[in-house]
Amino acid sequence: MKKTFPLQKHLRLSFALAAAVIAGTCVWLLYSPSPSAVQIVDEMEAVAGGAHPGFRRNHAKGLCISGHFESNGNATEVSHAGVLQRGTVPLIGRLSAAGGDPAQADAHGMIRSMALRLAGAAGDAWYMAMNSVPVFPVNTPEGLYQQLRASMPTYGDNVPDPEKMQAFKRAHPEMRPFEQWLAAHPGSSGFDNTTYYSVNAFRMINAQGQERFVRWSMVPEIPYKAMTAAQRGDPDFLAFGLATQLEQGPVRWHLIITLADPGDVTTDATVRWPEGRRQIDAGVLVIDDQQSQVDGACRDIDFNPLELPSGIQPSDDPLLLARQAAYAESHRRRAEEESAH
Ligand code: HEM
Repeated sequence: MKKTFPLQKHLRLSFALAAAVIAGTCVWLLYSPSPSAVQIVDEMEAVAGGAHPGFRRNHAKGLCISGHFESNGNATEVSHAGVLQRGTVPLIGRLSAAGGDPAQADAHGMIRSMALRLAGAAGDAWYMAMNSVPVFPVNTPEGLYQQLRASMPTYGDNVPDPEKMQAFKRAHPEMRPFEQWLAAHPGSSGFDNTTYYSVNAFRMINAQGQERFVRWSMVPEIPYKAMTAAQRGDPDFLAFGLATQLEQGPVRWHLIITLADPGDVTTDATVRWPEGRRQIDAGVLVIDDQQSQVDGACRDIDFNPLELPSGIQPSDDPLLLARQAAYAESHRRRAEEESAH
């Protein structure tokens, strides 16, 4: 009988294990219902007419902002996060428009966005990325992937194939609340008079260990106004408007935390909670400066919505993990392009 040395045995076992892992990964990739971050970001690039090196693959057009958050301590009732204790923390953020083209005209997109990093004590910062529409068009990463495929510009122009988009909408009735909201709320006339929503649900945990599902929004002190006809002809009215406003003084929003009632849907970003849910005004966000996104402090930040301080946790909304992975992939690509520059 052939003698087998322990080392050979060990090597064979390792090869067998490695082969099983590779085969398992291939099967998972083939049959997993979720598209990978690479696939999603590839589609975002394709919809934007190709990669725009150095820029974010979504919300590509934007600017950096800085200021501070003045917490009034009201939200300690629901979360023991350091940034929600009474006091002031500095912040770096970014205002942007949805879409993958960093040169798109502002009137082209209706969705404005705000990303923030509220600096807590070391390692306890709160990152958030919010949109001006309180619901997302789809409720799964697969839905987003299909939506991107249906949005692909056709025939060499900048417009998606209307039939593909209609077919997508028929197959995804969950998109209706998003469309209805946009129809009733045309794009705002400025970054500064826009409400920004967390969209996804999260969990807050207080010092007694009690958990509540929440969503939050940044509500501006300046009232909403729809963009004007004159603004439609100005490709950069959003940045210009903010700069003009900041010359007169800081711009302020209130952090409003909305508490879910038992039974409210927390895993579907296309469903809003009914009116009348309890809300806590947690403090004031003060923005007093802006910088170009080309060399400002926000440039290299990944506003990963799962970078949360102790006292705030994700919900089971499947978009959240997909967001984390896609933001990291987009960040990896743009950081590599920056360093190769
Ligand atoms: C599966 C769903 C989603 C995917 C795959 C996705 C993907 C992305 C990607 C790849 C970026 C660029 C990130 C970077 O380079 O740093 C981005 C940016 C952004 N996304 Fe999403 N997103 C999703 C859902 C959402 C939702 C629900 C919201 C609204 C709450 C949102 C708000 C934003 C904002 C505000 C930015 C800009 C962040 C910045 O200024 O750096 N996204 N998204």
